[in-house]
This record gives sequence, structure tokens and C-alpha cells, in this order.
Amino acid sequence: MTGGGSGLGRALVTRFLDEGARVTVLDRTPESLAELDSATRKTLNIVAGDVTSAADNVAAVNSAVSAYGSVDVFVGNAGIWDFNRTILEMTTEEVENGYRELFDVNVKGYLLGARAVAEHLAERRGSMIFTLSNAALYPRGGGVLYTASKHAGVGIVSQLAYELAPHIRVNAVAPGGMATNLRGPQAMGLGDQSLSDVLPSPDSLKDYSALDVAPRPVDYVDTYVLLAAPQESATITGSVFDISGLGTPKRAAAVT
Ligand SMILES: NC(=O)c1ccc[n+]([C@@H]2O[C@H](COP(=O)([O-])OP(=O)(O)OC[C@H]3O[C@@H](n4cnc5c(N)ncnc54)[C@H](O)[C@@H]3O)[C@@H](O)[C@H]2O)c1
Repeated sequence: MTGGGSGLGRALVTRFLDEGARVTVLDRTPESLAELDSATRKTLNIVAGDVTSAADNVAAVNSAVSAYGSVDVFVGNAGIWDFNRTILEMTTEEVENGYRELFDVNVKGYLLGARAVAEHLAERRGSMIFTLSNAALYPRGGGVLYTASKHAGVGIVSQLAYELAPHIRVNAVAPGGMATNLRGPQAMGLGDQSLSDVLPSPDSLKDYSALDVAPRPVDYVDTYVLLAAPQESATITGSVFDISGLGTPKRAAAVT
């Protein structure tokens, strides 16, 4: 799993450990990894590294194989956001450098992870699961850089499901907003800001939800467990599970 140190990734690590899985985490933030390690009482294999580096992805996969013998599931989850910056709010340099940094993490990171792990998963008839977003499907989940990067994720799932069949199932989960440490590109001056810093409160996420819920990371993990389970998801590949609830507009006045 990539990006398991914080937010959704941490909730996924906790849940997969509870399910009895043996988990390897690749994450670039040492403080998050240390917190994750001390918060969990079960054995975890932690690799510090950057998903934009081919060598770090290979090192994480090799570490997982030497710790546990094989890999059944790969979760590509590490990501960064653009804090809803519109095209007109960005300078040309921010478009160019923000694009490079954000696509390097959100798109290249997923491709490098997939490449590093593919042969191992194929041996086990395994599963790849990518974290996308409501921004993979609809506008208003970010600015144009983030939205384009998450749409690219839909292409990754569609094409890899085709290329890696019948040996590997490839799917994605598209969660909606949650109050996490999600950060932005340094190149846009957003590297030290987190999504939680700009939300009035975690509860304010209700303002976007037709169901009037303010989701927490833990609310999104069940779909990953389904897609990891070989029997339960034996027929599923090339799918993007929209669990954001944000495809349905919020009604102006709720009917009781
Ligand atoms: N928070 C939201 O509202 C939201 C909504 C929809 C989708 N998502 C997606 O969920 C995923 C997880 O985000 P989150 O909200 O839990 O954020 P988060 O920042 O809490 O967790 C992301 C983790 O990824 C790690 N990471 C970031 N860049 C990395 C890199 N280059 N190499 C290695 N590790 C890296 C971070 O250190 C962090 O631990 C992302 O793909 C994000 O796009 C988030």
C-alpha cells in the first residue's frame, strides 16, 4: 500500500490488519510512519520512500516479498491535491511545475507501483486497487490539475484491467471529501498546507452531501476489502466504485 501513513491510507492499513492481512506500507513522511507504527499493535512492514521514484517502488515490493513471501493485493493510494486552484488562479509557471509535481505523484506514482508489483500479483491471481476521487468523475472535487490527474486514474484502471487480465483484477475506489492531511504541490506553495487546514470543520463536509453525511476515512474502507477478496470480487475488473455519494446534488431543502 502506498500512502499508508495518514488519512485514508492509515484507515486502510488498520482495517487490513484487522482482517488478518500482512501489510507493507510505502510512504514518504517519516513522522506519519512513526505514528502509524506506534499506533498499531500488529506487525507492519514499513518502507520510507517516494512513490515518484521507480527505485523506491521496487524496494517496497522487494521488501514485501522478502517479509511475507508474496504479494496478493496492491493499493495505490498516495496522492496530493491542488486546493481547488482554478486555471485562472495559477501562473503559467504554477501550471507547468504544479502539473509536473502533482501528476508525478498521482499518475506516475500509480504506474510505477503497478509496474513494480505486476509480476508478483500475476503469480497469485491478485488484485490492484487505486484510490481515485469524486474528482475522477465530476467537476468541483479539486482544480483542473487534480481533476485531470484523477481522470487519468480511470484510464489507468481501464487499460491495466485489459492488459493484465486474466491474471490480475484492476479496480479503483472513488471516495469523496474527508478531513485528512492531504497536501498540495510545493511548486504551487501548497506543500505545507493540509485539506483539514482549509475546512471550516470536518462536519462542514455535510454541506456537499445529498445524504447529509460528513465522511471519515474509516467510512470508505469496506469497498477496498471487497476488491481485495478473491472470491467476493472474482468477477470484478476495470471498475471504478463511486462511493463518494457526490454524484447526486444536494437538495436545497431536505424533504422529511
Ligand atoms: N481527503 C479527501 O478529501 C480525498 C477525497 C477523495 C480522494 N482522496 C484521495 O485519497 C488518497 C489519500 O489521501 P488522504 O486524504 O488520506 O491524504 P493524506 O495526506 O492524509 O495521506 C496521503 C499519504 O500519502 C503520502 N504521500 C504523498 N505523496 C507521497 C509520495 N510522493 N511518496 C510517498 N508517499 C506520499 C503522504 O505522506 C500521506 O501519508 C489520495 O489519493 C487522495 O487523492 C482524498
